[in-house]
Amino acid sequence: MVQNSVIPASAPEWAHLDLNEVPDIKVIPPGPKSNQMHTRCTKYFKGLSGQVKLFPVVFDYGKGCELVDIDGNRYIDFSSGIYVTTLGHCHPKVTEAVQKMAGQLMNCHDFTTEIKTRLVEKLTEILPGDLSGFQFYDSGTTAVEAGLRVMRAASGKHEMISCFYDYHGKTYGGVSLGHIRSFVYGPCRAPGFHMVPRPDVYRPMWTKQDGSIDTDKYIEFYDEYLDKGTVGNVAGFVLEPIQGWGGSVVPPDDFFPKMRQFCDDKGILLMADEVLTSTARTGKWLCMEHWDVVPDIVTMGKGFGNGFPVTCVAVREQYKESFESISASSSYGGNPMACAAALASIEAIEEENLLERSTHLGNIALERMKKMKAEHPIVGDVRAKGCLMGIELVKDKNTKEPFDEAGKRVYQKAFAKGLAWIPAGHILRMSPPVVMEDEVLLKGLDMIDEAIGETEKELLR
Ligand SMILES: Cc1ncc(COP(=O)(O)O)c(C=O)c1O
Repeated sequence: MVQNSVIPASAPEWAHLDLNEVPDIKVIPPGPKSNQMHTRCTKYFKGLSGQVKLFPVVFDYGKGCELVDIDGNRYIDFSSGIYVTTLGHCHPKVTEAVQKMAGQLMNCHDFTTEIKTRLVEKLTEILPGDLSGFQFYDSGTTAVEAGLRVMRAASGKHEMISCFYDYHGKTYGGVSLGHIRSFVYGPCRAPGFHMVPRPDVYRPMWTKQDGSIDTDKYIEFYDEYLDKGTVGNVAGFVLEPIQGWGGSVVPPDDFFPKMRQFCDDKGILLMADEVLTSTARTGKWLCMEHWDVVPDIVTMGKGFGNGFPVTCVAVREQYKESFESISASSSYGGNPMACAAALASIEAIEEENLLERSTHLGNIALERMKKMKAEHPIVGDVRAKGCLMGIELVKDKNTKEPFDEAGKRVYQKAFAKGLAWIPAGHILRMSPPVVMEDEVLLKGLDMIDEAIGETEKELLR
């Protein structure tokens, strides 16, 4: 009898998509109903993402890997909301769990409930190392803030170091850790927050003689920076395992093991912001498991409740008591519906072998994208870790000059063909649900391939 874990994980039946029916563009999107509704809404609702501004359709419903707009157009989903509905839209198990809890108990502040007890017990079972202290929040950025509070409480220090092109949310701490120019209103970084470069294999700052990235040089720089760039009161590093907003930037394999060693040597903490990368997105519970590294503090969000607003801060055994000094979570943190959504999502990942599925989809996507890179003059780099994928568009493969106009056009063209996905300047970002069938994934990538070809014809004359 073959072990369950070695059977190539197939997509769950409930998420089957008939490619004769989807994508199906009945009227050129955004269609008349979308236009009308969008105009009504945006008279009052302001401040939209580039995703919506570039393609203002109005969605009616989603099921598994499909989204349907109010004009009846049917799209393949390559964005999962925004990296959120990792297990597909309206996963039956998650929907049922939330519906049941909504009729039983919606909120009782931070009193213990049975569902919360089961969730924390489950988390200690699935997470690596001794990550065994938890608090729950209602957004990624509030979980990041809590992570920063725990770091300060655990270390008694206040300075934080993060990396160029990071994104950690929109509260003041999150903004202070991030690539601040992405916020048009231009707030100042809070005192005590520092940024350093991190290794980008495609755009290395320091290389070895053979041209490959030199991770040690980055670590040497951090050493120097701790000494000369800070006031010597550093609590620790806050890092995204893979930079999401920055463009699905996967670090070299030796980076995080070296960072773990560096933080241990310096007696500072390592916090992994896994709001985007946890819970099957990259084929593991935590992305850091790819490199066998256990962070001291970790945040999880987005796919953690598969669309229900629930996020988590987890800490290692020795830092558990630090939660006492930051007090309780928030009005909504860990409410019974949130815990039900998170527990059901975790159980669905186990029951449907979705860690394996995510890995498998990432592998076939990478092969397909490598072909695009070989065939298209504007595809500079392609990368994937599970269902977290990116395609970097450049004007010239030698100079690697970013090609933002191409990124915009490819996004819009593929969307018009029926692919709902994420724009990001010159880096195309893909985040399909991990329940997707192989053929559907390949169909979506074909649509991107076609859109790149059409864009090249327009822009490379
Ligand atoms: C790594 C990371 N941290 C934090 C956040 C903020 O999460 P939220 O938008 O739920 O506040 C995000 C959101 O994209 C993220 O990608």
